[in-house]
Amino acid sequence: MIKVEICTGTTCFVMGGAELLMLEESLPESLADRVEIQGTSCMEHCKSNPAGEAPYARVNGKLIKQASIHNVITELKRITGEE
Ligand code: FES
Repeated sequence: MIKVEICTGTTCFVMGGAELLMLEESLPESLADRVEIQGTSCMEHCKSNPAGEAPYARVNGKLIKQASIHNVITELKRITGEE
């Protein structure tokens, strides 16, 4: 199982994290049953990095800055070798 954590802290949420939570519905069929999506509280990255890098997500522990449905799916495909 590939673990996706989406930050739902305030900064990330307003910077696009809310949209990211729709990831599950956007997953291609080939990935849908291989991915586990979780919301997390603030990962603290927003405090040490420019706000422009939010929202943050982690895919199998790897930090994704400016996370979007598109770049999280790209990372998932990289992991599964689909791309
Ligand atoms: S709100 Fe997401 S890292 Fe702080």
